[in-house]
Amino acid sequence: MDKGQNIIFFCLLILVGAASSQHIQHVNCPFQYLYHFGDGFTDVGNSIHVPSRTPNPAARLPYGRSSPGWPTGRWSDGLNDFDFAATDFGLPHLAPYLNMNASENYDGVIFSVARSPVLDINFFKSRGIKIPPYAAVPLSAQIRWFKNYFSSAFSSPKERANRMENSFLFLGDIEGNDIGYALTQGKSIEEVQTYVPLITRAQIRVARELIRMGATRLIIPGNAPLGCFPYILTTLRSNNSRDYDELGCLKSVNDLIVSKNDDLQQAIRNLNLEFPNIIINYGAIYDGTLEVIRDASYGPNGELALQACCGTGGKYNYDGKRFCGSPQAPVCRYPNQYIFWDGIHFTHHAYSRIETILIEPALRTLGCTRSVNSTTSNLSSSL
Ligand SMILES: *[C@@H]1O[C@H](CO)[C@@H](O)[C@H](O)[C@H]1NC(C)=O
Ligand SMILES: *[C@@H]1O[C@H](CO)[C@@H](O)[C@H](O)[C@H]1NC(C)=O
Ligand SMILES: *[C@@H]1O[C@H](CO)[C@@H](O)[C@H](O)[C@H]1NC(C)=O
Ligand SMILES: *[C@@H]1O[C@H](CO)[C@@H](O)[C@H](O)[C@H]1NC(C)=O
Repeated sequence: MDKGQNIIFFCLLILVGAASSQHIQHVNCPFQYLYHFGDGFTDVGNSIHVPSRTPNPAARLPYGRSSPGWPTGRWSDGLNDFDFAATDFGLPHLAPYLNMNASENYDGVIFSVARSPVLDINFFKSRGIKIPPYAAVPLSAQIRWFKNYFSSAFSSPKERANRMENSFLFLGDIEGNDIGYALTQGKSIEEVQTYVPLITRAQIRVARELIRMGATRLIIPGNAPLGCFPYILTTLRSNNSRDYDELGCLKSVNDLIVSKNDDLQQAIRNLNLEFPNIIINYGAIYDGTLEVIRDASYGPNGELALQACCGTGGKYNYDGKRFCGSPQAPVCRYPNQYIFWDGIHFTHHAYSRIETILIEPALRTLGCTRSVNSTTSNLSSSL
């Protein structure tokens, strides 16, 4: 999807969103099941079930404080990215893979684990980069879970093929962790740039594997503008104002992400040529997130746009040693005024905004239709 299309979709979305978001009744998509591989943006409760000797912050309040009021294993004050996406698709009944109820029928199973990278643990070890002790299940391991789940849940090849054909699979975003771990542990932009082809290749390898299993619809959304995240801004802070863009984000880091996303888009184009009958989309999460940050920066609480709601210390209200969930980390009073929840993940409110920007256009391109209460609005009858 190019920039022009994004802008058109975005304008459409504002129209549609303003007129009818309260009145959506049904969404019908040409797929019935969702599977997601990723990190804390989409983890709906896996990371707290990964065995670990270190306590997991998301297992405690204030995680989940805004909704439902207790911790659910999501790394947010409420719901996260994929909860909203699934609802937009009309497929809201999700389960984290590590905590499924065998007697339930789910619309989607989530394999995402917070803090997980694309590349395998050995890659980081060999470069002296540490990965958090809790969670961190690399993409390849998430795919192994998926294969195990698939072969045990559906006994016949026909059932499996049928299920795959009726599914929509999400690969990421996740690669922000590969880059974030390296940058915050002293690796230079130039060095991390050399990881980019490896990250892209690993993602494409997984996409190809899923296509061989019968997947017909895939999205690889790319990565958000990491240079705006409080944990990056805090660790890589600079005295040189020229290192920052007009929003206060670190230019070098966002440039790295843009070039990484370009690399991914080129690889997706090649994959589309290789598999012309399969839908393989890029997700533009970068543009969606930047739009939300820009709106907030120029809004009434602009100074909060790059601060963590839950946390303490410095310009960005972030300190890795007094992370959200620890007794020394206070929580802001109005999380809805913030984009960032704990400095690494978004607030419930920000997730919901980002998702609206990303999923509305996806509904159109994926052939989903919706019926809207026509007494309220006729604007979106063409959607
Ligand atoms: C699993 O789902 C069944 C059917 O919805 C329900 O009765 C049961 O309480 C659930 N078990 C757990 C442990 O949540
Ligand atoms: C920024 O400037 C202050 C005061 O001149 C200095 O103490 C600090 O080390 C500098 N920080 C960086 C990251 O250069
Ligand atoms: C549309 O919404 C109005 C007001 O909320 C409600 O009274 C009406 O029954 C709805 N119509 C349909 C077809 O659902
Ligand atoms: C809504 O749109 C349909 C088709 O576009 C049209 O036939 C109908 O008259 C419209 N209804 C209202 C209330 O504008």
